[in-house]
Amino acid sequence: MIQATTMALRTTLEGSASPGHADGAGAEHKMTHPFRNGTDVAVQFVGVSKRYGESTVLHQLDLSVRRGEFLTLLGPSGSGKSTILNLIAGAISPTTGRVFLDGVDVTDKPSRERGLGMVFQNYALMPHMTVFENVAFPLKVRNWSADQIRAQVAATLDKVGLAKFAQRKPKELSGGQQQRVSIARCLVYSPSIILMDEPLGALDKKLRDQLQGEIKSLHRDIGTTLIYVTHDQEEALNLSDTICLMNHGRVEHLGTPSQLYFEPANRFTADFVGESNILAGTLLEAGVVQTGAGTALQVHSRHPQPGAKVEVLIRPENIRVLTPGEATNEENVVDGEVTQLSFVGGRTRVEVLAAGERLLASRISSREESGIQPGRKVRLAWSKANSVVLD
Ligand SMILES: Nc1ncnc2c1ncn2[C@@H]1O[C@H](COP(=O)(O)OP(=O)(O)OP(=O)(O)O)[C@@H](O)[C@H]1O
Ligand SMILES: [Mg+2]
Repeated sequence: MIQATTMALRTTLEGSASPGHADGAGAEHKMTHPFRNGTDVAVQFVGVSKRYGESTVLHQLDLSVRRGEFLTLLGPSGSGKSTILNLIAGAISPTTGRVFLDGVDVTDKPSRERGLGMVFQNYALMPHMTVFENVAFPLKVRNWSADQIRAQVAATLDKVGLAKFAQRKPKELSGGQQQRVSIARCLVYSPSIILMDEPLGALDKKLRDQLQGEIKSLHRDIGTTLIYVTHDQEEALNLSDTICLMNHGRVEHLGTPSQLYFEPANRFTADFVGESNILAGTLLEAGVVQTGAGTALQVHSRHPQPGAKVEVLIRPENIRVLTPGEATNEENVVDGEVTQLSFVGGRTRVEVLAAGERLLASRISSREESGIQPGRKVRLAWSKANSVVLD
């Protein structure tokens, strides 16, 4: 039954000109839980929760993942990311709720009948088999003919840049190459849904960046639904159509990378994704917040209630450090003193004590002397549009 559904889905995917993968495809994906009932849904959770004894590790969750979507589960250690993946895979059963794949209720189906592809952090390759044999394995299990297997494995190894390593054993490969083998082993039988749990976690930064690029283009080329787990926010921002940010078994924010970054639903999201300045204050009237130290900030706010205690987010790269005498038309201007300067390659972080707050500004590094030094008086400026009131 599931097999038939998967086949039908593959046909649809192959027959379509990969719709929804162009840039901006994620834009139509709304922030609120996109509970849908149509045929475009690859994975759906309805009231799913998971408890172990007294402890609830996943609070009741409704979630749907559109076909062809790249969804990343992001969050700190222990927040429930792998739990969600394992519930989709069927490695664990939910305490409440139902899990649907391609519209079929699979809650009671064992893992092997769900037809999913999986890639894990620890590669899980078979050490006595060559690269070719490892990648051929899923096809053998599915009774493909030797000729079909040879052609399909060769094409897949080519896709992940491993054609010339076909006869090596896993231990004769680097970590990055081994991870490519495990990705190839998953791609080879074209599962309609692929799950990846921290697949790049064990690799160094350079290699991670490279493989991120490869995973991204593979996703674009084959149009599979991809559910990816990471605790690395940059990786999530780079790869995803949609990010599901988890904390203590709950969703803090479900949205596009740009929504999480520019319009975070709450303080946790603002803190977890990117660097942030968060100022506490009281909403005086629409568009003005008075901070504890008494500074009035012009803010962008949909918040309806004057008198409400709110927090205002300003991203460091949106705060400009003005040169002496420089004019500005930004609505917020404060004077302060530089307390610390850190050069982090392409950007320089400037910490300033201003208006009773410690503010962080980030500017593009320059070889020229900027006159910004610890102890110097500076003026900071930022616009109303870049001062976001958090709910
Ligand atoms: N079999 C189990 N029995 C009891 N508690 C469990 C079990 N499996 C997981 N947990 C708990 O569930 C919570 C969520 O675990 P999960 O593996 O989903 O976290 P995670 O977000 O993937 O974290 P990490 O980034 O460290 O992999 C954790 O607090 C974990 O200790
Ligand atoms: Mg995990």
